[in-house]
Amino acid sequence: MNVMAEPNEPTRGVTAGEHGPTAVPGAAEPLLRLRGISKHFGAVQALYGVDLDLPDGQVTALCGDNGAGKSVLTKSIAGIHTVDAGEIFWQGRQVHIASPKDSAALGIETVYQDLALADNLDIVQNMFLGRERLSHVLLDEDSMERAAAETLASLHVTTVRSIRQPVATLSGGQRQAVAVAKAVMWNSKLVMLDEPTAALGVAQTRMVLDLILRLKEHGLAVMLISHNLNDVFEVADRIAILRLGRMVSQDAISAFDRQSVVDFMTTGASSRDVPGSGSSHERN
Ligand SMILES: Nc1ncnc2c1ncn2[C@@H]1O[C@H](COP(=O)(O)OP(=O)(O)O)[C@@H](O)[C@H]1O
Ligand SMILES: [Mg+2]
Repeated sequence: MNVMAEPNEPTRGVTAGEHGPTAVPGAAEPLLRLRGISKHFGAVQALYGVDLDLPDGQVTALCGDNGAGKSVLTKSIAGIHTVDAGEIFWQGRQVHIASPKDSAALGIETVYQDLALADNLDIVQNMFLGRERLSHVLLDEDSMERAAAETLASLHVTTVRSIRQPVATLSGGQRQAVAVAKAVMWNSKLVMLDEPTAALGVAQTRMVLDLILRLKEHGLAVMLISHNLNDVFEVADRIAILRLGRMVSQDAISAFDRQSVVDFMTTGASSRDVPGSGSSHERN
């Protein structure tokens, strides 16, 4: 195997900072903490000083209208974009994410809308894609197949007929399931899903939402990008709302109702009083 093609060592590109973020004593440190993240493309300022916390074992919904900066923020965490300014803390340590390898080495897995699965390869091959070095050292075909099957079973993914079937033959929901299972199999700590249910029907959406809840049960942090508020209110513990590149609100889901999320997405503010923000309105 070509040595040049080997993945980075796990800690390469990741440096510990001198100081952690200013944390409230006793407060649980989120898995990922972004502070003041800015990113521009030419004349377009896509993100303005964005703060975001992603805690372990919780689903954080990232909401916002088209062009709000959700994908740019996700790709910045994934190491596809390099940010212009701001700090990133992982488990309380400052890190620099300069490439997708840095992000993967931390335990961050991104499930993109187009999924980045290889259609001509089967499920097992897709779940090991990009990790061939490990697979050559540690695993043969049988154990790869077993690991893939066990991971899918642990996520209660039962609709796949054969794990040797090419990914091209899978439904949209099944493809999402394979992408998510890959994240679980490789012990990711954070899974980010960019609009995972946008192209799915009712039953497939149900399956993907169940998968998200299982990731959370496994203790992972999940960031769910969605502007489907049904999905958001069904699975999210927290909501973060971007508008025109700025984080306009971020809180526990109990602090929002559907109308206040829409208000924040469209105007950047909400006049509605909701539980958790000091009033006694019922949530929708
Ligand atoms: N590669 C790029 N080059 C130039 N502008 C970009 C690029 N990616 C995103 N943008 C701009 O950044 C803003 C945020 O985009 P994006 O994060 O894709 O929004 P969304 O919230 O819909 O995912 C938009 O104005 C978009 O046009
Ligand atoms: Mg987007």
